Amino acid sequence: MKLDDLISGVLDSRVGRSVAAKAGFPEATVLRRGEAFPTGAIALGTVEPASGSLVPDALAALGVTAQPALVDTPDARSTDAEGRQRPPAYPGRLGAIVVDATAASRIGQLEQVRAMLRPAVKALEPSGRVLIVAADPATASEVETAAVRQALDGIMRSVGKELRYGATCNLIQIADGSTASELAQVLRFALSGRSAYVDGQPFVLSPLPPGLDQLDQREGRIVVVTGAARGIGAAIARRFGAEGARVVVVDVPVAGQPLAGVANEVHGTALQLDITVPDAGDRIARHVTERYGTDAHIDAVVHCAGILRDKLLANLDEQRWAAVLEVNLAAQFRINDVLLDPDRPGGLADGGRIVAIASTSGWAGNRGQTNYAASKAGVMGMVRALSAQLVDRRIAVNGVAPGFIETDMTASIPVIDREIFRRSSSLLQGGRPVDVAEAIVFLADPATPMNGQVLRVCGQLVVGR
Ligand SMILES: NC(=O)c1ccc[n+]([C@@H]2O[C@H](COP(=O)([O-])OP(=O)(O)OC[C@H]3O[C@@H](n4cnc5c(N)ncnc54)[C@H](O)[C@@H]3O)[C@@H](O)[C@H]2O)c1
Repeated sequence: MKLDDLISGVLDSRVGRSVAAKAGFPEATVLRRGEAFPTGAIALGTVEPASGSLVPDALAALGVTAQPALVDTPDARSTDAEGRQRPPAYPGRLGAIVVDATAASRIGQLEQVRAMLRPAVKALEPSGRVLIVAADPATASEVETAAVRQALDGIMRSVGKELRYGATCNLIQIADGSTASELAQVLRFALSGRSAYVDGQPFVLSPLPPGLDQLDQREGRIVVVTGAARGIGAAIARRFGAEGARVVVVDVPVAGQPLAGVANEVHGTALQLDITVPDAGDRIARHVTERYGTDAHIDAVVHCAGILRDKLLANLDEQRWAAVLEVNLAAQFRINDVLLDPDRPGGLADGGRIVAIASTSGWAGNRGQTNYAASKAGVMGMVRALSAQLVDRRIAVNGVAPGFIETDMTASIPVIDREIFRRSSSLLQGGRPVDVAEAIVFLADPATPMNGQVLRVCGQLVVGR
């Protein structure tokens, strides 16, 4: 048995877990995943004076009957037998609290947020949710308003780090012109188990382009997923397949067998293709017209294929540099160029979606990953710039930055480092491929009002922003 496997076995054993718990490392909670909403009550707290907020209508659209949040004021406190002041307590477990802070523009109003969160965090069920809804600081016309909106981001990130048992805290920043149905789309994802591994993150909304706001068509969409033979890409293909999409799974010819397996599973089609070949975009477009008809267009492209060639910069040669930059970044540019030609049969449809995979290494940098971090930060730059260019065609471009996800790629990391990565997230565990897949499907959804954003799926890993 290899030393790595031995240590891994010990860490995963009951004895190993109990030693870790005694040493002060709490055990990770099994996260609530899938469509399910929290089981406990959902509380709504509103920062006053509020008027015309979208939040009540958005919750109603989801069928949520929210109860008023308890507020920790001196009058609402009780005194226990030892004479200590206690904040008001919920009668049972709370599934989630939604804090409507859209009216927050003065520093004094932040006290209301504290007062609503204090009773709630104590009562939150495992995998519960704290969601703060606010306006985007970038759209504030006054300095104090911008500061207060940004302060909510700091509150959200700190609360995320304090919550335990798989509970998460996220911030939803609505835009001028956002609608209740757009907010409902984001709240649905954020409340459900689909966002299990998204923690400590802002969801920055932009209004959907006209014509797309009523679109609710997922069945039969043509979705191309690169790097789909295994790991995160295979999970993405399965998730789209479950929605009834027609999935084109792409991977290198040597992965032909597992690729065919994924294609069969999702009732899609397989394209054996090294995405770095110069005509990769042409071959994808041709595959789409050959398999789905000469009029067919792609509805969403997911750039998932990626590689690592880690070396400290002192040992990093041009081959390792080029290989990573080619697969993780340059190939996406060439493919996008072809698929974004509006006259191209088998190209991306107007109103379509592109989702690319970045990484927390792209935010924070990582020792031994100069090439990888360059490629993944480049993906983020591409997302921002390309999204702005495609507004007229109503094409949204977003990214996902996974943290530590349990796949074959991360299995190659030494076991101690792997354990450190797991423990460095607020959820005390690595994510699963399906966690990234859920975020991708959400961002590729025609009803999701986000554009030019990179959403981290990292369990609030300490690495990065
Ligand atoms: N696993 C993680 O923790 C993690 C974290 C951050 C980002 N990511 C990113 O997520 C994506 C998927 O990661 P994963 O962990 O599933 O990796 P993986 O190695 O398990 O799968 C990657 C897939 O991409 C394919 N691929 C590689 N080069 C290709 C090429 N030239 N043409 C076509 N296909 C190619 C591989 O054959 C493989 O099937 C990558 O972009 C990776 O950088 C992963």
